Amino acid sequence: MQNLLVVGILDALFRWLHVLFGVIWIGHLYFFNFVNAGFAATMDGDTKKKVVPELMPRALYWFRWGAAWTYLFGILLLVLLFYHQKAALSDITTSFGAPAIIMILLTMVAAPFIYDALQKSGIGKNPRVFGAVTFVLVALITLLLVYWAKFSYRGFNIHIGAMFGTIMAFNVWFRIWPSQKKIITAIKEGTPPDPGLVALAGGRSRHNTYMSVPLLWTMINFHTTAFSGGNLRLTTETAWIALLVIILIGWHMVWQIYKKAAKVKGF
Ligand code: HEM
Repeated sequence: MQNLLVVGILDALFRWLHVLFGVIWIGHLYFFNFVNAGFAATMDGDTKKKVVPELMPRALYWFRWGAAWTYLFGILLLVLLFYHQKAALSDITTSFGAPAIIMILLTMVAAPFIYDALQKSGIGKNPRVFGAVTFVLVALITLLLVYWAKFSYRGFNIHIGAMFGTIMAFNVWFRIWPSQKKIITAIKEGTPPDPGLVALAGGRSRHNTYMSVPLLWTMINFHTTAFSGGNLRLTTETAWIALLVIILIGWHMVWQIYKKAAKVKGF
C-alpha cells in the first residue's frame, strides 16, 4: 500500500512536470515552424542582423531545455510505470524477456542513430521516399512490439511515441542546436550562413514537427479505449492498426498546417 502511494505521488508529479516542459518545447517548435519561418523570410539583411541574434538564442534556450526536461520526466514515467509497474507488458505476471528488452533498447536507444543514418543516406534525399521507408519501419517495430515482445496496448503505443520523442530530443541537441549556433553567429557577423547547416537545421525541425502530432496521440491514448480493441472491428490483437492509421492522419494534419501557415501574413 505504502509502495503504491509512493508510485502514485511520483506518477502525478512526473506527469505534471513532463507536460509542462513538453508544452515549452513543442510550443517553441511550432513557433519556429509555423510563425518564424514565414516571418524570417520577410527580413532584409540589416533587420536579420539585429533580430536573429537577439530572438533566436532566447527562443532556442527554452526550446532545448524544454526538450531535455520533457525527455527526463518522460524516461522517469517510463521506468516507474512501464518497467517497474510492468504496464509495458500485456501479462504483468510475466517478466521482461529477451524480446521485450531488445525492443526497449531498439526504440529508446538505437532509434535515433538508425533515423540519423537513414537521413544521411540516399533515402534521406527525397522526403516522400524517406516518409514511406520510415513508415514501413515504424509499422515493423509496432508489429514486433505486439507479437514478439508481447507488449500491452498502452505499452506499444507509448513505445512508439517515446521513440519519436527520443529521436526529436536527439535532433534538438545534436543537429538543430549545434547548427543554429553557427547560423546565428554568421548572421551576427553579417556573413551568409552555411546553406548545408540551414538545410540540416530546417529539415530536422520539420521532421520533429511531423513526429510531434502522432507523439501526442500516443501520450494521451491510455485515457481512452475506443481504439484499443472491441470496437470498429479491431480486437486487442489488431489494435495496432489504429495507431498506424493515426500516424498517417497526424502527418497529413501537419502538412495541412504548414500549408495554412504559409498563407498567414503580417499586416
Ligand atoms: C521525449 C520523449 C518522451 C518520452 C520518453 C515520453 C514518455 C511519456 C510517458 C511514459 C508517459 C505516460 C504515458 C502513460 O501513462 O500511458 C507520457 C505521458 C504524456 N506525455 Fe510524454 N514522453 C515524451 C515526450 C513528450 C512530448 C514532447 C510531449 C508534448 C507535450 C509529451 C506529452 C505527454 C502528455 C500530454 C502525456 C499524458 C499525461 C497524462 O495523460 O496524464 N510527451 N509521456
